[in-house]
Amino acid sequence: MWTNCLFITAILLGLSIAAPSSKRTADFTIRQVARSRQTWQSPVDSYRRALLRFERSVSKIDTLSPPPGQQGTVQATPDEDDMQYLSPVKVGDQTLNVAIDTGSADLWVFSSGQPQSQLRERNYYTPGASAKKLEGASWYIHYGDGTDAGGDVYMDEVVVGSVKAPSQAVQAARNVSSVLVEDGKIEGIMGLGFNSHNTVKPQRQRTFFENVMDSLSRPLFTVSLKYHKPGAFDFGFIDCKKYKGDITYTAVNSTGGWWEFTASSYAVGDKTFNTPITGIADTGTTYLLLPDRYVNNYYAHVPNATKTHDSWEFPCNTTLPPFTMIISGTTGNKDSKPSTYRATVPGKHLNAKSIHPGSDTCFGGLQPTSLDSGTFGDVFFKSQFVIFDRSSPEPILGFAEALDI
Ligand SMILES: *[C@@H]1O[C@H](CO)[C@@H](O)[C@H](O)[C@H]1NC(C)=O
Ligand SMILES: *[C@@H]1O[C@H](CO)[C@@H](O)[C@H](O)[C@H]1NC(C)=O
Ligand SMILES: *[C@@H]1O[C@H](CO)[C@@H](O)[C@H](O)[C@H]1NC(C)=O
Ligand SMILES: *[C@@H]1O[C@H](CO)[C@@H](O)[C@H](O)[C@H]1NC(C)=O
Repeated sequence: MWTNCLFITAILLGLSIAAPSSKRTADFTIRQVARSRQTWQSPVDSYRRALLRFERSVSKIDTLSPPPGQQGTVQATPDEDDMQYLSPVKVGDQTLNVAIDTGSADLWVFSSGQPQSQLRERNYYTPGASAKKLEGASWYIHYGDGTDAGGDVYMDEVVVGSVKAPSQAVQAARNVSSVLVEDGKIEGIMGLGFNSHNTVKPQRQRTFFENVMDSLSRPLFTVSLKYHKPGAFDFGFIDCKKYKGDITYTAVNSTGGWWEFTASSYAVGDKTFNTPITGIADTGTTYLLLPDRYVNNYYAHVPNATKTHDSWEFPCNTTLPPFTMIISGTTGNKDSKPSTYRATVPGKHLNAKSIHPGSDTCFGGLQPTSLDSGTFGDVFFKSQFVIFDRSSPEPILGFAEALDI
């Protein structure tokens, strides 16, 4: 198994190596953080917020020692009903629980610059000895539902797993609107999208990944989110213990600043529809959001599903068919052998939760978006191993079936 992993790495890099004789140690796993229970969140509200949000070289492999460069792992722990995943990230002197979000490009945190009433029982960022204020810089993020946040900018050390960015733009909030304040657990958001979406003015700042990319063993990170249990983000390496089968790499259209890709077709249960699906890979969105035509096709196969207030619901005891996105690409960066991967979201993952506590009507994990392209959120990620790879001139995404779904 391990041998295979190194071997695959070598093929991807176009290198040949002698038979590996020892394990590479890449185990920097951070201890899981104990979390308090959250108050019940309406899936409909979360869905609305999700929608509104978008109106809008490795020199040589030495088989006896780790490859040069940084590597690290950080756990991503879901809250109740997998509404969001939080990861402990060291920001200056504090460790904060942030949502790692491939669909935005700001690293912002709750901070000592906010009124106490917004901080509640959170940990928050207090600029310390290592912080250097970026004079004249400010940031402001506005979401369509009125949710917003803004504040100052400091350059400070940020560590994720064991991967360190010595001088990272940390956007310290001065004011955060109530929906974010009421979500008592989130202490910040770390965007891993493309820099064009960063909101710092007058000069955009780089994401954590952009800052550390060249110092990593390989310029990539991987996402393995899990259903109702902690998963991980890995930086700088591909952990072959996290997936099975081959990886299929596909092109990313980063023009819009997103990790956007196109699946060539899709299937509901075993019925295939030869229509492509374009969307963005977004760990910061809870659900799988697609234009109506796909969603209607899906729920046509769900007994007693109904569309209520623009969103789909069904009796909680309904057995849901799996939803598959068929992704065409190649088996590796340098090796252009064509390959096709069926990214299957099991029916169980498409049953998000009861619409009210105790209700026997459930809310779908697949919901419509008014946009003409999709948002592949956590409901998609939970069954997939996804590689966000910048080792080619153009960014690419790699997909494989997650182990331990
Ligand atoms: C914080 O933002 C809210 C709206 O989001 C606004 O009403 C309020 O005045 C702001 N407070 C400060 C101190 O800027
Ligand atoms: C890439 O994305 C941009 C902006 O989001 C879009 O205008 C363009 O058509 C896309 N290109 C392809 C090849 O899909
Ligand atoms: C679906 O509706 C039919 C009547 O239209 C009913 O007989 C059946 O029990 C319902 N199934 C579920 C799972 O509620
Ligand atoms: C689901 O529950 C309803 C009543 O709550 C019942 O009528 C129906 O037969 C059940 N369906 C299945 C598939 O178990």
